[in-house]
Amino acid sequence: MRTPIMAGNWKMNKNPKETQAFLDGVKGKLPEASKVETVIAAPAIDLTTLVAGATGTPLKTAAENSYFENEGAFTGETSPKALSEMGVDYVVIGHSERRGYFHETDEDINKKAKAILANGLLPIICCGESLEQREAGQTNDWVAYQVAGALVGLSADDVKKSVVAYEPIWAIGTGKTATADQAQEVVAHIRATIKKLYDAETGDAIRILYGGSVKPANVKELMAKEDIDGGLVGGASMDPDSFVALANYQD
Ligand code: 13P
Repeated sequence: MRTPIMAGNWKMNKNPKETQAFLDGVKGKLPEASKVETVIAAPAIDLTTLVAGATGTPLKTAAENSYFENEGAFTGETSPKALSEMGVDYVVIGHSERRGYFHETDEDINKKAKAILANGLLPIICCGESLEQREAGQTNDWVAYQVAGALVGLSADDVKKSVVAYEPIWAIGTGKTATADQAQEVVAHIRATIKKLYDAETGDAIRILYGGSVKPANVKELMAKEDIDGGLVGGASMDPDSFVALANYQD
């Protein structure tokens, strides 16, 4: 049984004070982690506040990025070792905004996945196609290529613990959600790809999320799909009431 994950991605929003206000707003209202794992991915500048506030609650924490070296002369980067030492749980890697605006390659993402796992953190590996690719019928091949690239050299045990997020670029921040059937089809293809690359057990264990305009109004329908294990939510994760509603989608 895969435990569902409801993860928020705040992107470059909120300061530490606003992070504390969010924590106060969700306090006591999130499900136990064994029922639905809740995660907030916040800007690096907010992580100290987020980790302190999440400690002793079901909420888990994520960085939105990290570098693949643990330390050194890499001005402006965030160390995965430091993230681990401060008590962060997950790191989002390969988000389409990082691939698009900051030119991250599949090779970078693979190196980051390895460094994250080596430091005892878990990667949330994002993938997803553009509208042009979808219209050209390339979605499944493209997403499988991105996932395979991110996983190069990882053991089955590491893959089982990792998380993949399928986020079609055309559905991010646009209000256009992939239909639950569209999301299920691609997520099932990702799972089949992992079964082919590893084995059935690994493909059945890894959790695969859908992201792209997920909100309280559509979360139930998406979560009813067999292969969709959770959501990676941007806009609708920033308001505490909205995040609480997403996290308690089963009620
Ligand atoms: P929205 O939920 O705002 O569409 O963002 C999705 C996303 O990019 C999460 O990583």
